[in-house]
Amino acid sequence: MNINYNEKERSFRLDAKDTSYMFKIVDDGYLCHVYYGKKVPDEDLGYLLRLDESPKTPRENMRDKATFMDTLPFEYSCFGLGDYRESCIKIVDQNGCTTVDLRYVSHRIYKGKPALAGLPATFVNNDDEASTLEITCIDKPTGLQATLFYTAFTNLDVITRSITLKNTGEKPIEITRVLSACVDFDDDCYDMITLNGSWARERHMERAPLHHGKQSIDSIKGESSHQNNPFAALVSHNADEDMGEAFGFNFVYSGNFFAQAEVTQHKKTRFVMGINPLDFGWKLESGEEFVAPEVVMVHSDSGIGKMSRTFHDLYRQNLIRGEYKDKRRPVLINNWEATYFNFDTDKLISIAKEASKLGIEMLVMDDGWFGHRESDNSSLGDWFVNEKKIKGGLKYLVDEVNKLGMKFGIWFEPEMVSPDSELYKAHPDWAIQVKNRELTMSREQYILDFSRKEVRDYVYSMMKNILDSANIEYIKWDMNRQVTEPGSLALPPERQREIWHRYVLGVYDLMNRLTTDYPHILLENCSGGGARFDPGMLYYSPQIWTSDDTDAIERLKIQHGTSLCYPCSAMGAHVSDCPNHTVGRNTPFKTRGHVAMVGTFGYELDVTKIPEEDRNSIPGQIEEFNKYNALVRTGDHYRIGNTFENIEWDAWMFVAKDKSEALFEFVQILARPNYRSRRIKLKGLDPDAYYYEESEPDRKISGAALMNAGINIAKIWNGDGIYGDFSSKILHFIKA
Ligand code: DGJ
Repeated sequence: MNINYNEKERSFRLDAKDTSYMFKIVDDGYLCHVYYGKKVPDEDLGYLLRLDESPKTPRENMRDKATFMDTLPFEYSCFGLGDYRESCIKIVDQNGCTTVDLRYVSHRIYKGKPALAGLPATFVNNDDEASTLEITCIDKPTGLQATLFYTAFTNLDVITRSITLKNTGEKPIEITRVLSACVDFDDDCYDMITLNGSWARERHMERAPLHHGKQSIDSIKGESSHQNNPFAALVSHNADEDMGEAFGFNFVYSGNFFAQAEVTQHKKTRFVMGINPLDFGWKLESGEEFVAPEVVMVHSDSGIGKMSRTFHDLYRQNLIRGEYKDKRRPVLINNWEATYFNFDTDKLISIAKEASKLGIEMLVMDDGWFGHRESDNSSLGDWFVNEKKIKGGLKYLVDEVNKLGMKFGIWFEPEMVSPDSELYKAHPDWAIQVKNRELTMSREQYILDFSRKEVRDYVYSMMKNILDSANIEYIKWDMNRQVTEPGSLALPPERQREIWHRYVLGVYDLMNRLTTDYPHILLENCSGGGARFDPGMLYYSPQIWTSDDTDAIERLKIQHGTSLCYPCSAMGAHVSDCPNHTVGRNTPFKTRGHVAMVGTFGYELDVTKIPEEDRNSIPGQIEEFNKYNALVRTGDHYRIGNTFENIEWDAWMFVAKDKSEALFEFVQILARPNYRSRRIKLKGLDPDAYYYEESEPDRKISGAALMNAGINIAKIWNGDGIYGDFSSKILHFIKA
């Protein structure tokens, strides 16, 4: 077993692949953190706690227990006991007081990993992949029982954490804060990396050294958000893609979250992550349980790149599910940027006809096919076909598309309702709202109260009618506004704060029903572009729309940032028309293809209208995508360029796990005059093997030379050079 308990030392040791994580039970049953980092031999590291230094343990120095509490590195910090750093848990007890004091009671260690009721979480495919430690603690005065879960993966540098609370007392307890993980590092020598942005520029990478005080990211929008992704990494100041230490944290949740690094008075760092405590509340009646979502923790001793590759492997094998998990996704064409709301059956069939000739495999009908929707101001919630637009009905359209040899996909926004809809007129109380307050509109729509089963059931029955009426093989599940007036007309006053989490649980419930009842349908999540690109969503959909920004150059940043913890195989990426609809930039069609090839690949343009030359290059582009897709989906991703620092060029690689081949992609962003060829060092190859580039089979170069000396871009590309801004090139290296 890769988790062990040392009875004598009262210490726990968790070993993931090359990682060790240790903690200990000290005086009075407090759980304190000892070590997290590169694997070390099995020995007692309890001395690291300095329990012989001042402040002494409570047993030896009861007169100043508070100093001890504010100094001890806790595994799970409680509010009200003298630990003035960020707390993980806070309650309101029967007396209205907020102190909570969790102490060790018992533990158990077993192979495998349990599921989290109602929540997405990483899983094992067989019990040998991981071991789990459950530690039960109790707050004696209230009877609040907490179970801390730790799972250590055997072949990945991954440790996951979560917590379950149970009220074993007689009186109700309100939980006002329950974070899922806390790590107390012994120093403050880290930079914090986060993924921030806005609509159309999601997950831009930011990096800043830690300093005294609290540095946090969060969402209080009801979803993980465009602005901050539920990901943060603490990396050593010298860490780059290939060296240095990195600790990555990712929250498997799609609602309000909070992540914070706090540098304390003693220059230590406390990192915490979990559900955003702001406006959170959950009443636990006697006997009731609350399950908090999971935090995935990845350690890398060889830079940020290795951290990312560990996340990718974990998510591809142990989070993403369903029939498309290990499959190439059909090349789709989506009509959103082609037509927006202005389409009908004839228009869609004309796009499909042209697309099918070019080798595109699926037509996706985006927003605007239902109710009387002609723009974004109506009909959400009326999930029946607008036969004025879809003349002949949905089945006719889908059959016609199928006759062309193409699959058919459809767009829904199940969580929403327009004020101008039959649904809202019949059930105005079904919107998330606060009694006697005006509802705030956003994109002229409201959010349905998915905490209510009857609301979910009704929406699902409408979706089912559509899905059962024609051969639908793909769904794009969109979500285009954030929560305001958080409240539910179905919850009693003392449970109003529960709406945030109950809403997310409701979304998960419906996605679970959908994917269980329609296992053949490929589900793509989306939220106004990429506002819900999080591991929670990946549990239900193997791909997520990365951003509404389809510009190839802006996508370099978005996809680079996203790849810090999410696999490229999950990134929805399309070739669109130029000038680009978001930034007005013109880029070569070829470059747009090369950048979209990093993700799931598809088209988002009116194929009947684009320039002849672009249209003619689609079959070749699809052939190229097909050729490399297995490598992209299953290989190791190496970032070489970084357009957050260098805006002249970008490059990256996908290397087969057995190192037999590698795809190298290069984009020149700004052409420079009188500039010599660039030398770029490849990554991830076998140093002892020889490789040739596919177009030059006679020229064999060692992996060691390719990685340490590099390649001269201009020379290899002689005659097929990189000319002008935004040009791109791919190279395919094969082991000789
Ligand atoms: C936002 C999505 O990101 C777009 O791709 C598109 O589906 C629109 N919503 C439709 O309203």
